[in-house]
Amino acid sequence: MDAGTDRSHYLLTYDAEEVKSGSPARHEGPGQRNWYRYLGTASFCSISRSQLHWPTPPPNVEFLVHNITALPKEWSGTFDLVHQSLLIAALRTEEWTRAINEAHRVLKSGGWAQFMELSLLWLQRGPVGRRLWDVFRAFSEARTMLSTCAEDIPQMLKDVGFCNVRNELVQIEMVGSTPDAIVARQSIIGAYRRLKKAIVQEGGFGIVGSGEEYDALLDELDREFETGVNGSYLMEFVAVVAQKA
Ligand SMILES: C[S@@+](CC[C@H](N)C(=O)[O-])C[C@H]1O[C@@H](n2cnc3c(N)ncnc32)[C@H](O)[C@@H]1O
Repeated sequence: MDAGTDRSHYLLTYDAEEVKSGSPARHEGPGQRNWYRYLGTASFCSISRSQLHWPTPPPNVEFLVHNITALPKEWSGTFDLVHQSLLIAALRTEEWTRAINEAHRVLKSGGWAQFMELSLLWLQRGPVGRRLWDVFRAFSEARTMLSTCAEDIPQMLKDVGFCNVRNELVQIEMVGSTPDAIVARQSIIGAYRRLKKAIVQEGGFGIVGSGEEYDALLDELDREFETGVNGSYLMEFVAVVAQKA
């Protein structure tokens, strides 16, 4: 993959809501805006399923509404790189297979796919984390989502014919008061707070009896993350790259 030439053509997924809210993480964190900044000579197609709210794209970027599981037919063999990240709570199990098939189809021969997903198995390190993991696993099963997508992606890539599949574990220490620890805790607790309504509506899966109990569980989890278990609580992501033969 040559990231710096005029001819590179990249397809990315992005978060329209976060772009709209102007979250500082979008500007300074590992979000797609950084891609545009550092790879300014490449051309980008950024897609999201929801309505777009981006003011004016830079000249090398197109923002489009598309479903990653059913990309335009004419995109076959178009892209040098397909990057997809953080769809763990968005795709159902059969949609993962379709998304990976679509990534393979729209890549040029020799092009690369890159997937970045939150692994959730680390949640089970502490007793409070284990309770939240039980809630999330039940929630995922009820919606036929893939709570272990980070672990499953490498095999799914091989199954559709990708080669050179490599994965890397990225760990962020959440204990203490470093900027990384604070952002990591806020992002994971915030993501679970956004699931509150859906989890309570589904009855809390016999683990949390009300919205108040769910809030209390997350408050307790925040404290467990901050102090850690034996001084550590590592948030983990899996980054996977693979090449189309
Ligand atoms: C948690 S955000 C992740 C965004 C971005 N990829 C990132 O890493 O920050 C999930 C985004 O994926 C979009 N999304 C969900 N399902 C999708 C699908 N089937 N196709 C394309 N985008 C989708 C949602 O609209 C939302 O903006």
